[in-house]
Amino acid sequence: MIPDKAAIRQAVQAAHADHANDTGGANASYIPYLASVDPALFGVCVVTADGEVFEAGDARFEFALESISKVFSMALAMQDVGLPEFHDKVGADPTGEPFNSVIALALHGDKPLSPLVNAGAMSTVSLIPAASPEERWAKILNMQSAFAGRRISLSDDVNNSEQSTNFHNRAIAWLLYSGGTMYSDPMEACEVYTRQCSTLVTTADLATMGATVAARGRNPVSGEQVFDPSLVPPILAEMTMEGLYTASGDWAYKVGLPGKSGVGGGILAIMPGTLAIAAFSPPLDPAGNSVKAQKAVAQVASALNLNIY
Ligand code: DON
Repeated sequence: MIPDKAAIRQAVQAAHADHANDTGGANASYIPYLASVDPALFGVCVVTADGEVFEAGDARFEFALESISKVFSMALAMQDVGLPEFHDKVGADPTGEPFNSVIALALHGDKPLSPLVNAGAMSTVSLIPAASPEERWAKILNMQSAFAGRRISLSDDVNNSEQSTNFHNRAIAWLLYSGGTMYSDPMEACEVYTRQCSTLVTTADLATMGATVAARGRNPVSGEQVFDPSLVPPILAEMTMEGLYTASGDWAYKVGLPGKSGVGGGILAIMPGTLAIAAFSPPLDPAGNSVKAQKAVAQVASALNLNIY
């Protein structure tokens, strides 16, 4: 059931006001563009499963989607490849290691375990049926846009910054290829994966994208049925297991909502059937999750008594 709208408005405003002056964390620096974003930016937004939007702060500032993109490409691959094959090839388990871990691959016979870590996300991209990398990229961008209910665009600044520094991911892509868990040309998959991370969204977009999952695959703002409702449980299961990387268990324990973070500073959490909460603040903790966005999302969830468990 969707909580009282006045209570949602109050929760969003309070979460923003209460954490606006919090300190701690640091912008991601391994991607030069991200290091240059104003660390004081802070937005909070809720979109309900019936399409109402509640926002506070810099909720209309565009930032890099980064790893949150993994959720939308995962939905696309689940739909186009089929759940049994997708699950078999990519997996649904936490790795227990950082999001760009090579060790996790070595420990598990080069199986990525999760589509929400870099290895699994590149494997996922390679699985999306397409005749060319451009067609695969177009499908991914269309999917992000359908989730957001508006045309999402690539940032050339973010993309150039990432493509010229993504050597670690290229190494992972070759490891996947040598292990038989990369299903297209590895450098093409890495290039398309890097683009999917380099699109720009606002906190309001992010909440709408999450609300599309909360509303059983139907974007509640645009009205478009974006994906099959049968994919909601596996999407949420994957987010629960690995959405916040090594902090996923603590997040499930303390917040109780499937979530996903990105090194751009975005965090998304979903209460199925009800609403999505998004927040954005660039400084990250050591696990790669936004310090302030985690607090803001947790506060909104708690104020509205939302917890799937
Ligand atoms: O591949 C990378 O490292 C980045 N493009 C995305 C990583 C990321 O967002 C991890 N999330 N917290």
